[in-house]
Amino acid sequence: MTPEVELLQLFEWDSSAQNLKLREELAAGLLRPQACIAPKFFYDPLGSRLFEAITELPEYYPTRTEAAIFREYMPAIGQALGSDFTLIDLGCGSCGKAGRLFHAGILPARYLAIDISVDFLRESLQHLKRELPAIEMTGIGLDFTDDLQLPDDLPPGRRMFFYPGSSIGNFSPPEASDFLKRLAGQMDATGGLLIGVDLIKDKAVLDAAYDDALGVTAAFNRNLLRHVNVRLDADFDIGDWRHVAFFNEAESRIEMHLEARRALETSWPDGAGHRVRHFAAGERIHTENSYKYSPAGFKTLLTEAGFDAIQMWADPRAWFALFFARQAVTRT
Ligand code: AVJ
Repeated sequence: MTPEVELLQLFEWDSSAQNLKLREELAAGLLRPQACIAPKFFYDPLGSRLFEAITELPEYYPTRTEAAIFREYMPAIGQALGSDFTLIDLGCGSCGKAGRLFHAGILPARYLAIDISVDFLRESLQHLKRELPAIEMTGIGLDFTDDLQLPDDLPPGRRMFFYPGSSIGNFSPPEASDFLKRLAGQMDATGGLLIGVDLIKDKAVLDAAYDDALGVTAAFNRNLLRHVNVRLDADFDIGDWRHVAFFNEAESRIEMHLEARRALETSWPDGAGHRVRHFAAGERIHTENSYKYSPAGFKTLLTEAGFDAIQMWADPRAWFALFFARQAVTRT
């Protein structure tokens, strides 16, 4: 018999109000002089799978480097997390990283998995629950970048937020600081944050990680337009768009764009009429930023956001870092 997974869908992805909000967000981004689409829209069911494929690419070092850090420092990580804690997994994806912690004997009392890609989340969590039926597991289909709503009955103590993979890089540093402050506000002094951060390194290594030879990252980027066509009833022709990705050293970020191969236009229904967006040949839609940090720079960000007792583990090449920090006790 398959154990039941309680699936708390606090965020109703498919409700008409949410769909409308997302359509408006997409339309506003496309109509801006510099068109943009937020990276959260990468993760439709196919996009989530394409991302899993990216993590297997030889050029994409972050996932395997982070996994090696986990293997190397598992005892220290286990000690930092302690016992009888709630693990709150932000953007759990396949839940594979949490699963590896559990299989290494780092067991929370409760596991809360949050992801915007709700169908993918449901499948991933059901799989994990079958492997580890003793852990209480809850899934939430939520865009936590918007508003991190936690269940009312979640105990306030020993909340350990888990944000691996360097997804924090999708925020600009000021946005990251705000987000970390909000996390600090959702825990007490017994809580903590375990977060993965991609570090600044050679431009050639970074460029290759986001523009792989097989073209999987290009497919991941271009799939965004397929997803937009579905959400907005737009008529993007994927073949018209080229994947562009590079490390912008001045901004310390990877930028991903989609570049129009020719002059074209796309349109979508809007109320009684329709909206049209023209693109010149070579014009780009900005689809992602992925910021890279120095160890000291990220430590400062954590401190300013209200964390202390910061520990950091990195690989020998210092390509990636895992930080554990506690909420700084505010004494008045
Ligand atoms: C999931 C945001 C960490 O920035 O490396 C991978 C997404 N984009 N390849 C990253 C991504 C292109 C990824 N994050």
